Amino acid sequence: MQPIIEFLIFGMKPAESIPLNKSGIFFLHIMGDGSIKVSIIGAGNVGATAAFILLQKRIADEIVMVDVSEAAIGKALDMMACAPLVPFDTTITGTTDYSGIRDSSVVLITAGLARMPGMSREDLLEKNRQIIASVSQKIREYASQSIVIVVTNPLDVMAYAAWKETGFPKSRVMGMAGVLDSARLRAFIAAELRVSPGSVKGMVLGSHGDTMVPLPELTTVNGKPITQLLSREKIDALIKRTQNAGGEIVNYLKTGSAYYSPAASAVAMIEAIAKDKKEILPCSVYAEGEYGLNGVFVGLPAVLGKKGIEKIAEIPLSPETKALLERSAKAALEGIKQLSC
Ligand SMILES: NC(=O)c1ccc[n+]([C@@H]2O[C@H](COP(=O)([O-])OP(=O)(O)OC[C@H]3O[C@@H](n4cnc5c(N)ncnc54)[C@H](O)[C@@H]3O)[C@@H](O)[C@H]2O)c1
Repeated sequence: MQPIIEFLIFGMKPAESIPLNKSGIFFLHIMGDGSIKVSIIGAGNVGATAAFILLQKRIADEIVMVDVSEAAIGKALDMMACAPLVPFDTTITGTTDYSGIRDSSVVLITAGLARMPGMSREDLLEKNRQIIASVSQKIREYASQSIVIVVTNPLDVMAYAAWKETGFPKSRVMGMAGVLDSARLRAFIAAELRVSPGSVKGMVLGSHGDTMVPLPELTTVNGKPITQLLSREKIDALIKRTQNAGGEIVNYLKTGSAYYSPAASAVAMIEAIAKDKKEILPCSVYAEGEYGLNGVFVGLPAVLGKKGIEKIAEIPLSPETKALLERSAKAALEGIKQLSC
């Protein structure tokens, strides 16, 4: 009977089937369906929310949150009590001790200061650089084989810093921004056209900031380009709103920046890696000649799988979009030049 049980568990979506027990997760793991240990550095708004989404989606079989604050321990205990209700079997722990991240498959870095009203992402540079340097050393020490996803801002610069400080190959260090920027644009388009957000496909490339590069010609609703569904003025207004979406939220929150959508975006990347999906997602990656860019972390379409960035996809871009991408990469390079690492 054992093979039949394995087949059933593999063939079902956990959320629609029986609650998985430990052995169920083990079967998924040995069948390559992504049962992994995820560590999250920084159990603040983005980090803790990412942990909770990971638990709900049952992507990992172990999650560890590390923070300088003992709040990480309290939040993990709080989430653990949700296990019989959601339900999930994932182990969730919080700690201030970095040895907890030992042998992680994926490490998500969300440690750092967040923007306050009136601050740009660049204002965070020096303080967060120091945090990234110390966190990277710990990752090198305890999780030397992990895939690292950076969320801390200014994003492209911090991804570069984490790559330098860990000394990991470029395939195992990336930044999260493009998935979020794309999701924002897709959500705004869906609201404008009153269609299901899932039916809107599209990608935003470039640096995370005012120079981000949406691709309206490649943005579609049920396969139809938005250029055939919306006026140029409307598209420009939605793009502008996407570019300012982070700031719009900061102005309302007043004491921090967006975290639900950033957390969900990071989880989408972790899921692609954990499930070896080979999914093309816009990620901040180290460019070495792709799209004519060099020596910079910038948002490009990356194929994500169990090895991390398995390839950078080459999408044909219009000369206008290519020029915007170059301008955006230049902005990221300016930030990188300010780093001393
Ligand atoms: N890339 C993106 O699209 C994106 C989106 C949202 C937020 N962010 C960035 O993510 C970062 C986190 O945002 P947040 O809203 O979660 O902030 P937050 O203040 O809620 O959480 C940050 C956490 O990091 C912890 N921390 C600080 N130094 C640490 C260290 N050395 N080791 C471990 N933990 C440490 C803090 O104690 C805090 O709990 C910020 O830099 C923010 O700008 C990026």
